[in-house]
Amino acid sequence: SLQKIKQKGTLVVGMSADYPPYEFTTKEHGKTKYVGFEVSLVKQFAKDIGVKLVIKNMDFDSLLVALETGKIDVIASGMNITNERKKSVDFSDTYYSGDSYFLINKSDKDKLVSAKSFNGKT
Ligand code: ARG
Repeated sequence: SLQKIKQKGTLVVGMSADYPPYEFTTKEHGKTKYVGFEVSLVKQFAKDIGVKLVIKNMDFDSLLVALETGKIDVIASGMNITNERKKSVDFSDTYYSGDSYFLINKSDKDKLVSAKSFNGKT
């Protein structure tokens, strides 16, 4: 529970950091860093509730069991809602629907019609 998380002072988030732009790793000065928009999201969330963030990187297939057995507090891993998963875990509200768009200038709309149009030969 949120109260327990505040008591222990850490939010333990499980993710499979192999899924850009949601969560992935970069190397900075030889150190592995977790990045991606869900990483930013959970960092801010930990900050908001005033606890330290601990990220546990694991196989995507291990996440649900880790949550059920209390090894992690939350999963943030680009995991979609399915009826099967809903049987064992409680999903938050949707914060990213995947329904996002690139925008181009209107005058280019006949030139840039598909990803192929961007191959340098428009
Ligand atoms: N969106 C897919 C699902 O819910 C795949 C998510 C994979 N995520 C990851 N961090 N590797 O099953």
